Amino acid sequence: MPPRPMASRPMTPRPMTPRSVATVFGGAGFIGRYVVQRLARRGFIVRVAGRDPIAAGVLKPMGAVGQIVPLFAPITDEAHVHRALDGARFAVNLVGILAESRAGDFDRVHADGAGRVARLAAAAGVEGLVHVSALGADPGSPSRYGRSKAAGEQLVLQAFPGATILRPSLVFGPEDGFFNRFAALARLLPVMPVISGETRFQPVYVGDVADAVLAALLRPEARGMVYALGGPEVRSFRELMAAVLAWTGRRHKLMEIPMGLARLQARLGEMVPGRPFTRDQLAMLGRDNVVPPDAPGLAALGIGATPMDMVVPAYLARFRPGGGRVVFPGAGNAERTGSDLFPAVLREG
Ligand SMILES: NC(=O)c1ccc[n+]([C@@H]2O[C@H](COP(=O)([O-])OP(=O)(O)OC[C@H]3O[C@@H](n4cnc5c(N)ncnc54)[C@H](OP(=O)(O)O)[C@@H]3O)[C@@H](O)[C@H]2O)c1
Repeated sequence: MPPRPMASRPMTPRPMTPRSVATVFGGAGFIGRYVVQRLARRGFIVRVAGRDPIAAGVLKPMGAVGQIVPLFAPITDEAHVHRALDGARFAVNLVGILAESRAGDFDRVHADGAGRVARLAAAAGVEGLVHVSALGADPGSPSRYGRSKAAGEQLVLQAFPGATILRPSLVFGPEDGFFNRFAALARLLPVMPVISGETRFQPVYVGDVADAVLAALLRPEARGMVYALGGPEVRSFRELMAAVLAWTGRRHKLMEIPMGLARLQARLGEMVPGRPFTRDQLAMLGRDNVVPPDAPGLAALGIGATPMDMVVPAYLARFRPGGGRVVFPGAGNAERTGSDLFPAVLREG
């Protein structure tokens, strides 16, 4: 039988599938880096929009050549925010500050800035927006941080009703500003200061928050939803300080700081460059920071919450006297294990 002629194939070139662009405002920050890494792993072109694109260059190795693109885009600047969103499929806003450099910064950044990102994202036809707020966001909050975060949420939902709002409690991870700061303090001070010791937190792992950002972007059912993100444990500030001491192998006593002295400390903290402690933060410390009952959270986004003692002892080990090495349960070659380092009071809670 004569060979059948080969079916002729049209020689038109296959159209290139354009890669999706995701713009991450505040992408060079603590949580941002984990979000950028996850977006890059999914194949997105990631624009890291912030105030210092040179510093954000350190994120480039998280993707292939040209995949991570640092951009100059202060959230207060209309034209640069517009440019950062042009052609993007997704946007994430992680921009936040804990203290003002100039009076009015909370409103400029958390409220107006968040509203600007949402409005320009909607105008640019962005498909999904995730706005990272905070559990303390409340128009009735005693802190300007909390009130400005609440105003930001409102402006975001007005401009982009399909946006997803994530409200994390205290976020922990190797680069966090909480556990690292108090572990460093314990190295310097003979006692561990405790302010508002009864206030409760529900610390959440940075990797879980980043996973929640991705889930919120990619799951259509997350559009227009508000999620409260907390970890598996609720702990008082005093318990967290006790845990820091245990994880870092310190035998300091906890010392309750009376409110009058704490106010004085906060006033002094406002005078130090970087404003490490402010009266606004003190006001925030007076309120519980836990996930409200029935609020959708990590589980609703399909994410299992990571416990603190699975992660924190490892990165606080460098604060142990002599720079310690932590052995986790099951390693079997040391008397002190990760769970030994976690105080009984916390394990029983
Ligand atoms: N970490 C927590 O425990 C926690 C808890 C609850 C909620 N949150 C919220 O989660 C978000 C991310 O927090 P994070 O811990 O990752 O904070 P972060 O490490 O301080 O990162 C914040 C980012 O915002 C950027 N930024 C600040 N002001 C800006 C401005 N005017 N224009 C553009 N970028 C600006 C910073 O860039 P520069 O390098 O230019 O300063 C930085 O990249 C924030 O909204 C925060 O309020 C965090």
